[in-house]
Amino acid sequence: MRGVCYFRVEMTPEQEQPIPRIPYGACYYPEHWPRKRWAQDARMMAECNFNVVRVGEFAWSAFEPEPGRYDFSWMDEAMEHLDRNGIRVIMGTPTGGVPPWFSRKHPESLIVKRNGLRAEPVNRYFTCFNHAPFVETARKLVEAQVQHYANDPRIIGWHIHNELGGNRCFCPRCRTAFQEWLRERYGSLDELNRRWGTMFWSQVYNDWAEIPVPLDTHHNAAPGLYLAYERFSMEVLYRFAHWQSDLIRKAVGKRWVSTNLRCRVHEKWVSTNIDPHDHRLFELMDCVGYNNYPHAWDNNDDSVNALRLDGLRPPGARMNPFDFEQRGGQPGWDLVSRLSRPGEMRLLAWVPFAHGADGLTYFRWRLGWFGHENLWGGIVRHDGTFHPQVQPVARQVGAELRQAAGLMLGSKVESRVALLRSQDSVWALSRQPQQETLNYDAHMLDYYREGIRFGVNMDVVEAKEDLERYRVLIMVLHYVMTPALADRLHRFVEKGGILLGTFRSAVVDGDVVVPEQEAPVWLQDLFGAKVEAYDVQEISRYGTNPQDAPGRIRLAGALGRGKARAHTWYDLLSLDRAEPLAFYDADFYRGTPAISEKRYGKGRAIYVGTASEEKTYRALFRRACHLAGVKPLAPVPEGVEVRERTQGDTRLRFLLNYSAKLKTVRNGPGWTDILSGKRAPAVVRLPARGVGLFSSPGRPKKA
Ligand code: GAL
Ligand code: ZN
Repeated sequence: MRGVCYFRVEMTPEQEQPIPRIPYGACYYPEHWPRKRWAQDARMMAECNFNVVRVGEFAWSAFEPEPGRYDFSWMDEAMEHLDRNGIRVIMGTPTGGVPPWFSRKHPESLIVKRNGLRAEPVNRYFTCFNHAPFVETARKLVEAQVQHYANDPRIIGWHIHNELGGNRCFCPRCRTAFQEWLRERYGSLDELNRRWGTMFWSQVYNDWAEIPVPLDTHHNAAPGLYLAYERFSMEVLYRFAHWQSDLIRKAVGKRWVSTNLRCRVHEKWVSTNIDPHDHRLFELMDCVGYNNYPHAWDNNDDSVNALRLDGLRPPGARMNPFDFEQRGGQPGWDLVSRLSRPGEMRLLAWVPFAHGADGLTYFRWRLGWFGHENLWGGIVRHDGTFHPQVQPVARQVGAELRQAAGLMLGSKVESRVALLRSQDSVWALSRQPQQETLNYDAHMLDYYREGIRFGVNMDVVEAKEDLERYRVLIMVLHYVMTPALADRLHRFVEKGGILLGTFRSAVVDGDVVVPEQEAPVWLQDLFGAKVEAYDVQEISRYGTNPQDAPGRIRLAGALGRGKARAHTWYDLLSLDRAEPLAFYDADFYRGTPAISEKRYGKGRAIYVGTASEEKTYRALFRRACHLAGVKPLAPVPEGVEVRERTQGDTRLRFLLNYSAKLKTVRNGPGWTDILSGKRAPAVVRLPARGVGLFSSPGRPKKA
């Protein structure tokens, strides 16, 4: 492992103490514009207080116009203009868009989609990562690129491919690779047959070559096969990223390597195409990079955006995340999205920093003239002038980041509450959703939102991470369980942790097979709860049975009193040494426990057997924090998020007002307003969509 490092764009190397700058700029495509424009672009970037651009990630046709003829001279020229204006470069490898000369020569390189059809090269991400001539051709190009730029001081970091995850393939080559991967993983066919239960519908394999890929050309595949292919596809991605990062790293010495993960909450295509928590992928990258498009079309829920950003900040990472594509201008593909309201773009640009990022580039510098994205907004408009709403904000944020850089760069988000996420469960539930209305991310948000309202930092972690650094773990729909994780959860609670687990957690093992137990498997003793039976309602396609009473629970014990809605899923629990915190209050199972809490070792385990409403989630979240002794950073009104980053002994506090109204926050005494340099009042008035940034000496209290 390389040593800990962080981003720096040092703009004054002639001084003894170069000034650290947060990398800040835009994604730039000089190849889209006439050469004579480049100098002006670079000057205009400097006017925006930019110091970096991401380039190259779709420039294959320009870097290698014909097979084997490489041309980097045009990029060199563009970089000269950039350099003259103090703009550094993040160099992208252009393997996401493959030129027609390759696809025509190798039509078999085109991916096969899950529906069995071969892709036409009309878009991008259409090439199979297991196609050897493609990998070879891509490797030669990246080698040439790396050789050309290896020691270029203008380049601060490298960016691999674009949105790994887009090239998902089900072709015959991938099938063979899948079979080989299974052989390595399972060792013998007997083992695989046993673990998958292939006796079901007579699918016992006698030869590895008999194992199919989960196309949906004739109904769907067995859950075990389906999940295995998802994992295998991650392996394919990993290998593709691996040779690139290896190659780059060997040549470029100290510069960092990253990529942009496109992981949107709520978007099936994305969350099921890539595991954003794949540690090996993180290990390959010096930092996790992502794209961030809040308020584009349907993406208007600020807690969704916050959750996504927390999900892309692996706690053990060497460097803080980089936001490679931030919504700057107005998104527009086939449909155009709304213009940012005053204050909104600035607020949204600060959100990734509040959630731990250390660099940001807007997508994109200039509104395109052509192609799929000729309507995708930028800092500069179609006619080459600054966008009147966008540019002033870009400039302002650049100036503010300069003020914050010294304290912020390298500072960490320290959380005591974490959501335990399971990509295996996401995948397994996408194959068997159990309820059409059940959505993994949406249910996670039910709890996450309460964390924002309560006012604490939150991490999103996977089982592989160190769980014991947290006081509260929230485990939502953790459908796939393993004995090893169950052991670790026992230990976590035993040592004093508070675990909250929901229905549809611990139902199947890693092969989507139900162990010989009722849920929560391997955890019944920890929760003191056993799911004796379950009921469902609101299966939207079929409607609700008119004879069923609408779901309802009655809160009890530490959750207080009152009734709340229950919906979607109803675990009927029997309890053993656990206290009921809610009972069902409708239908024939009225009086049956729905939520429970058990002391275990020094901690507690709370089991929530149903989906409910805000008031229940709030009571549960606060109960868990109360038991764990976790206090809010600051009391925040609805619509305001408080976050902290820590740098040595200094705390950095962010207040983000997502609402369109003025909000008052009791921030407490002793804080300095970083942007004004003045002592901040104890009660802060945040204008509509306002951002507050404060520093305070002293470590956070060990609450
Ligand atoms: C991203 C992608 C960019 C661009 C952008 C806006 O997902 O990485 O290349 O397509 O969306 O459309
Ligand atoms: Zn393939």
